[in-house]
Amino acid sequence: MSVVVTDPNAAAWQAHSLQRLNAEGPEPREIPNRMEWTRTPGQGPRAELLGHVDGRMVIELGCGAGHNIAHLVAMHGAIGTGLDVAWGQVQRARRNYGHLRGLLFTITDACTSLEYARRPFDVCYSVFGVVGLVPPLELFSLVAENLAPRGVLAFAVIHPDLAGQTPDAGDTPQPDSLQLPDGKQARILRYVPSRDGWLGLVEKTGLTVTDVLDIADSEGAPETLIVTARKA
Ligand SMILES: C[S@@+](CC[C@H](N)C(=O)[O-])C[C@H]1O[C@@H](n2cnc3c(N)ncnc32)[C@H](O)[C@@H]1O
Repeated sequence: MSVVVTDPNAAAWQAHSLQRLNAEGPEPREIPNRMEWTRTPGQGPRAELLGHVDGRMVIELGCGAGHNIAHLVAMHGAIGTGLDVAWGQVQRARRNYGHLRGLLFTITDACTSLEYARRPFDVCYSVFGVVGLVPPLELFSLVAENLAPRGVLAFAVIHPDLAGQTPDAGDTPQPDSLQLPDGKQARILRYVPSRDGWLGLVEKTGLTVTDVLDIADSEGAPETLIVTARKA
């Protein structure tokens, strides 16, 4: 199948996922026994960060191969939607976990999907997913509109204080690159607000920030920023 993609982020992850898709086996994966919020498995908080998800509508923005949303559905009883703009990522997610009841994977741009969403979500989250890859204020505004009362937004992003990051106002994307499985680099665009900038952008939409976690690497340097917020 050939897919023409014009958004550089979508194109980069499309290329990434197709290489992964070709390298991975066709069998479903075992359900991960832990939700991962950082890039170091076993580190940082677990699914409990999202509060009670049993029977709740949960959406992951930029679900990749679907590991976290599958965990929430299979182990915590969530009714899950994983969305991703890259066709190959959704193929991987469906192959891995498409058999699970109560879990739907869909190929779509996150903002477009939220703009046309027909029912509210109780929980909306992103783990190094869409948050940071699309204009943050536009995204958070759409999330705020689509959350049910007391609904939760949670996201993990590269910590803005990590060496090499140059935080800005979060309204202009910075060029960055994604290493593909074959070692080549693909061009991407990333939004890099400061730590306070992220919190301000969330609160501008009327959501209330409820928790901020600065997760450090093994040498104590900031690595992952995790923010949770709630609708009134
Ligand atoms: C770094 S991966 C993270 C995947 C997954 N959350 C994980 O933790 O493994 C970022 C994902 O965001 C997706 N993505 C990027 N821009 C997007 C957009 N505008 N709408 C939906 N998904 C997007 C990419 O295709 C990619 O799968």
